[in-house]
Amino acid sequence: MKLAISSDHGGNNLRREIKDLLTELNIDFTDFGPDSDTSVDYPDYAKAVTSGVASGEFDRGILICGTGIGMSIAANKTNGIRCALCHDVFSAKATRGHNDTNVLAMGERVIGPGLAREIVQTWLETPFEGGRHERRIEKLMALENN
Ligand code: RB5
Repeated sequence: MKLAISSDHGGNNLRREIKDLLTELNIDFTDFGPDSDTSVDYPDYAKAVTSGVASGEFDRGILICGTGIGMSIAANKTNGIRCALCHDVFSAKATRGHNDTNVLAMGERVIGPGLAREIVQTWLETPFEGGRHERRIEKLMALENN
């Protein structure tokens, strides 16, 4: 799996923690920054990740900001992206199984690093269930053209 990750200034600390986890899990990732704690605009950093996932260069993306909300809104504006904002393990598992999400958003100001690690690992390891969910994904993606 090839993964892309970025944050804004509000997600820098959690991004470092998640990069450590990805290294521990032997997951190939590219970090799109930012490289400093200077205030930046989260849509710019969301786009760096989502364009790479939408094009197929990366299989999955992880986006982190203060709340995760701005990043998740930005991510879902790119065609081909299904981004879920998750702050619990149940949702992380369900959104892979049911929504086949290809981007995960989290908020550094909302959850601690231990829970974030569990969420990321669960989200990475849970397969899409297919079946009845396939039809729903097709209908979901058809909304992009309306
Ligand atoms: C930045 O202060 C903050 O607005 C951002 O990290 C995020 O929470 C936006 O949704």
